[in-house]
Amino acid sequence: MVQVHYDAEALSLAAARLFVDEARRAVEKRGAFDVLLSGGETPRRCYELLGQEPLRGEVPWHAVHLFWGDERWVPHNDPRSNFGMARRAFIERVPLAGCQVHPVPFGKTPQESAHLYEERLREHFAPAQPRFDLVLLGLGEDGHTASLFPGSPALEEAEHLVCAVAPASQPLQRVTVTPLLLNRSALVAFLVSGSGKAAILRRVLEGERDPLRLPAQAVRPAGKLVWLADRDAAALLSERSFRDPADSPR
Ligand code: 6PG
Repeated sequence: MVQVHYDAEALSLAAARLFVDEARRAVEKRGAFDVLLSGGETPRRCYELLGQEPLRGEVPWHAVHLFWGDERWVPHNDPRSNFGMARRAFIERVPLAGCQVHPVPFGKTPQESAHLYEERLREHFAPAQPRFDLVLLGLGEDGHTASLFPGSPALEEAEHLVCAVAPASQPLQRVTVTPLLLNRSALVAFLVSGSGKAAILRRVLEGERDPLRLPAQAVRPAGKLVWLADRDAAALLSERSFRDPADSPR
């Protein structure tokens, strides 16, 4: 299901409101809200809106736990860190205890980071299997999401929830969650903004299915999948992308 918003600001506000709504719903239902945050630039404004009134006051922060869908293998104070971006954008402005924030650990190696992070994830959700109430994801112009890049072995990982990856197209080694984890989620929301994403968004939503070449297509959650795009990013989509899957012929 694709929702089109007037511009990047409207998209960010819609994403922040989704966060608030899902947090209230989850806390109402089970007393906790577990969310997997995206990195990259697109969600920054959404995060900033969560760190200021009125939305800051609407989130039941006491019951929120933040995790990340991926991280570059850099120290948390490195300007390229996804955790560092979120910390500056909202975490340092909201009432969260340290034990509620779970960045990917910066280990001696990316493999150690991935192992420690998977342990943390499993511990947090035990005895149940890890399952997020909300996952925010971005979309790269090559169809990647989180740090699942085209051709990545992580796309076919059948055991681990977290992998260390060294994408040839990227300057940094990374740590990423796998589709195994993403697809257990109750709700996955992609945030896609700007004309630079229009072509790839059409390929992912309307092109042939090829998750190994278009990793965003590997995200098919047990729960709901929603695409939040601004007009520029949605400019090339045809009418069929706006039909609710429930209305589509089987
Ligand atoms: C990252 C993200 C990555 C991002 C896409 C889109 O660590 O960079 O997890 O998957 O979401 O590359 O990035 P932009 O939002 O900056 O376009």
